[in-house]
This record gives sequence, structure tokens and C-alpha cells, in this order.
Amino acid sequence: MIRIAPSILSADFAALGQDVARVEAGGADQLHVDVMDGRFVPNLTVGPVVVAALRKRTRLPLDVHLMIVEPERYIPEFVAAGSDMVTVHAEACPHLARTLAQIRELGARAGVALNPSTPPSALEYVLDDLDLVLVMSVNPGFGGQSFIPGAHRKIREVRALLGARPVEVSVDGGVKADLARSLVEDGATTLVAGSAIFGAADPAEAVRALRRAAAA
Ligand code: DX5
Ligand code: ZN
Repeated sequence: MIRIAPSILSADFAALGQDVARVEAGGADQLHVDVMDGRFVPNLTVGPVVVAALRKRTRLPLDVHLMIVEPERYIPEFVAAGSDMVTVHAEACPHLARTLAQIRELGARAGVALNPSTPPSALEYVLDDLDLVLVMSVNPGFGGQSFIPGAHRKIREVRALLGARPVEVSVDGGVKADLARSLVEDGATTLVAGSAIFGAADPAEAVRALRRAAAA
């Protein structure tokens, strides 16, 4: 079954608890939290305090996407705050295997994100060290951008590289209902969506609509 992960980047940060309750009611499988540092990406968002606040308000797994340089400096704080999954960018990690081991040793699931221009081969020597691959279908930094079609091929190549390993393949950026079915056919197991869910008049219904479209 496909997993739907609403990205809170497009939620109302002044009413975050309420927005989270809405997508939870809609049957969301996990919450995607975009952490940006103004260095790895040209935008700033939230840190561990927001993860800790979310942890108190929801039982949904927290899928924390670190778009930051030197993520190893902050991973312990993000796990302590209640992150279930921590995803780092391959481009930000000169010692990727060590960083993934750090995440797992702290008790969280370890993910690797690939920018649109990063080839799947970046994963080749860490295939047994990861629990999740996040295929970026936009250049990270902002919500509401358009899906980059090259992500289709990337997902298929990542899936082939993973073989039978039980690794989650997530796609992030510009995901809308009309793309859902094809992304699942490519091999995606998780759809991250920000503006398509929180930009909708009824975010709970938008979660259901994405799930229906993925199954159609
Ligand atoms: C982009 C973030 C995404 C973003 C997706 O840098 O990693 O998670 O919130 O937003 P939409 O679905 O609006 O493209
Ligand atoms: Zn993200």
C-alpha cells in the first residue's frame, strides 16, 4: 500500500496543530518535516523544537528531511526530539555511510535524499545502510514548484538498484494527484505532497484524493 506523507512546509505554521489534525483525519501515513538551513538550500524553516512540538500532538511517524550542511551535527537533537526517520542529502555528506550509521545507532530509520542532478549511483555503496530513499522531483528549497519529469526514470533506477531490499522509495516535490499513479508504477512507495494537500480547501480530502489516484 502506498504511503501518503503531507509536507508541513505548506501548512499554516500559526495553526500547525490544527493542520496536522486535518491530515491525520484524512488518513495520512506520516508527516514530512522540511528542515532548511539557508546554506544547503536558499531558505530557512524549522528545527528540533518544532519536531518536539509535533511529537506531542500526533502519533504519526515524523519523516524529517534535513536540507542542511553538516547534518551529523544536528542528528542527535532531531532524533531526541522525536524524529522516526531522518533523511540527509547525499550531496551534503562526504561520509555518507558514517552518517547513516549514526542515524540508525540513535534508533531512527535512515534516509538518503538525491537532488534532481544527483545520479542513483550515489547510493550504490550504501544500499545496505539505508531504510529510505527520497527522490527529489524539484530542486529543494521551496514548496509549490513544478515536478521535474526526470524523476520518473530516477525512481525506476533507484528501485532496480535496491533489488529486493525492503527500502521505502519516496518522491518529493510537485507531487499532485494526476502524477500519483505513474509514480507508483515507477516504484515509489511514498508520496510526499505539500501544496497539493495544504493548499487545498480540504486537506483531509486531498490526502484521500491522492491515495485514490495512486490506486486508480
Ligand atoms: C522542497 C521540500 C518539499 C516540499 C514539497 O524543498 O523538500 O518537501 O515541501 O512541496 P510541494 O509538494 O508543494 O512541491
Ligand atoms: Zn521534503
